[in-house]
Formats: sequence, structure tokens, C-alpha cells
Amino acid sequence: MPTVARLFIGRVTGARGEQTCGDGGCLVGYVWISDLEEIIVDESYYKYHLFFCVNTRSDGGPCCGDSSAPQLRDYAKQRIGELGDAIPGNVRVNTAGCMNRCAEGPVLVIYPEAVWYRYQNRADIDEIITEHLCNGRPVSRLRI
Ligand code: FES
Repeated sequence: MPTVARLFIGRVTGARGEQTCGDGGCLVGYVWISDLEEIIVDESYYKYHLFFCVNTRSDGGPCCGDSSAPQLRDYAKQRIGELGDAIPGNVRVNTAGCMNRCAEGPVLVIYPEAVWYRYQNRADIDEIITEHLCNGRPVSRLRI
């Protein structure tokens, strides 16, 4: 059975789980290169893929859709479009249903890094776009 390394290329900062992270990325484990017969590099199709929960609930429970989530998702789409090449790589904004973090909402998550945010207004969206998407620095104060 050949030994295969599957490498994910992305930028993650800060320590998460068992990963060792620095400015340039994360070391998630290692093998001796000389032991490998094949290296597969997986690169995310989108540099940043944002999912905005806009779910509403009929049971009266907390939900992102009651907190201007659709309007702020649309604002994010507009701003990302306006910024164009100021954001390195492809960016996609998608609508999501409930992601089971209702009481923390409104929430969005950015993949492939799996960084979750709680946002309240346009200023929060602007900061996420400027700091995270343009500069590659997740916004600590909004992370959940
Ligand atoms: S309603 Fe948004 S996470 Fe559940």
C-alpha cells in the first residue's frame, strides 16, 4: 500500500486543535517525504467561501433570520463585488439554512478555514471583509 500525503493549501492563523500554526499556515502532521510515493495537493476551489445563515424559526426560538441576516448577506455580496481584485482569490457568498448555532447568531462561517463569526451590522461585515478577506487576518472580536 503506497503512502500518500494529502496536503491542504490554505492560510490559517492561530492555534486550532492539534494544528501548529504560524503566519504562513498550519502543520497538521508530517511524514518523511522519502517515504511517499505520491503527493496530492488539494487546493480549495474558492479562496474564501462564506455561508450566511438566514434561517427563520416558527417556534419562537432565536434565529439568524430575525437579525437582518439577509440584508447583511446582500451587503457583503455587494461590498465583495465592489472590492474585486482587492480580495486575493475567488470569493463566494452563499445562503445557508440553520447551522445549529442559533442562539449565537446571526452567524456566518468562512471556509476552508472554518472561521465562525457573529456579526451585528454593516461595520462588522466591513471589518470581516477588510481584515479577513483582504488581509488574511481573522477578526478576533467577532469570532465565536
Ligand atoms: S438559525 Fe442560524 S444557526 Fe440556527
